Amino acid sequence: MDRILVRGGKPLIGSIPISGAKNATLPALAASLLTDKPLMLSNIPHLRDVTTMLELLGQHGAAITVDERLGVEIDCSGIHNTQAPYDLVRTMRASVLVMGPLLARYGQAEISLPGGCAIGTRPVNLHLRGLEAMGAEIRLEEGYIKARAKRLRGATFIFDLVTVTGTENLMMAAALADGETILENTACEPEVVDLARLLNKMGAHIEGAGTSCIRIQGVEHLHGAEHHILPDRIETGTFMIAAAITGGDITLNRTDPHILEAPIAKLRQAGVVIEEGPDSLRVSTDGLLRAVDITTFPYPGFPTDLQAQMLVLNSISTGAGTVTETIFENRFMHVSELQRLGANITLQGNTAIVRGGVKLRGAPVMATDLRASASLVLAGLAAAGETFISRVYHIDRGYERIEEKLMALGADIHRLSH
Ligand code: UD1
Repeated sequence: MDRILVRGGKPLIGSIPISGAKNATLPALAASLLTDKPLMLSNIPHLRDVTTMLELLGQHGAAITVDERLGVEIDCSGIHNTQAPYDLVRTMRASVLVMGPLLARYGQAEISLPGGCAIGTRPVNLHLRGLEAMGAEIRLEEGYIKARAKRLRGATFIFDLVTVTGTENLMMAAALADGETILENTACEPEVVDLARLLNKMGAHIEGAGTSCIRIQGVEHLHGAEHHILPDRIETGTFMIAAAITGGDITLNRTDPHILEAPIAKLRQAGVVIEEGPDSLRVSTDGLLRAVDITTFPYPGFPTDLQAQMLVLNSISTGAGTVTETIFENRFMHVSELQRLGANITLQGNTAIVRGGVKLRGAPVMATDLRASASLVLAGLAAAGETFISRVYHIDRGYERIEEKLMALGADIHRLSH
């Protein structure tokens, strides 16, 4: 199993491009199931989760072509299987995104229940309740969610809490439903907006994406479209924090500062110098960093997917800061690994109290989930000596060529394949 070795202490200098957003790519791929015409997607990141989604579509019967510019064409005219098997779903919970499209277009879907998850129980009850409100019959049998509906019908559904993939699943299902659907308390994430843009290009009638109320007028058929996936704001934020904690000076190209307002504001509060271009960000420091208080919230609040990385920034900054996680339970598994590198973090319920001013020191550590593994790489970059990170398959799920991009910025980082 691959490991990553980081020899820390080098400031990151230079510029790199940001990849397309994983969390926009996965629903866009699932949306291909809504039509029998080809969908052309560009700016697709090369990630394990994307491969998993392509594999899932492939076993449903989709024909997939990758062109020389790494665009992907998906043709779902030959779908012959509406089951998402346990082997794929257990490696990626976002597989559940195929449920809405399969049900809307084929009248049936069987999705394995995702099972255990390293960052809390993460149920899909709201996806199911929303589909039921649209007339689906849902049973749980033999570890599978079995959903049936002759044709989904428009409905009003209020989410109990804000869910990103829940909003996306219901938006896709409603696009082909009979009549109008009103979704309330919806996620406002830019990836939801990107999916709505794609669906509208395919002939859907969706209004309000990016607000907490989305209205969808169902149509009989959707058609093919071309779509360029938006930049990955979490990858952008991770590299911004990497530049800050190494005292570097980097420029991130092909990104979008407008979808990073909360992280940019927090990093400025911490003393990071950030210059915004139309599609780029230059990040540097001019002195000591200060620990900051953060509470994770749905967009436009501070993203939970950057919480682990901010623990590293607080650890090496002056003062103390709290990081409160409100989205997921049990999303502090990285704390004990960061403590192995010398971080001074105390957990109190869903709040991590970080006392800064620590000199991190390299050690062997283990990645526990996707964003946690990014925080360990960052900690390794800031630490003196060598940090060995094992279980890096977590990082390959969500960061495209992270060690190559960091190497291009001057980091001493290597992937070890034994
Ligand atoms: C998405 C992102 C993930 C990010 C998360 C929160 C993708 C592929 N993944 O995950 O990177 O960390 O948003 O920004 O886009 N919940 C329920 N019932 C449900 C659905 C969700 O109780 O039916 C709860 C979850 O357990 C969690 C909260 O709602 O506590 C938010 O989860 P959700 O927004 O659904 O996360 P994902 O869409 O899985």
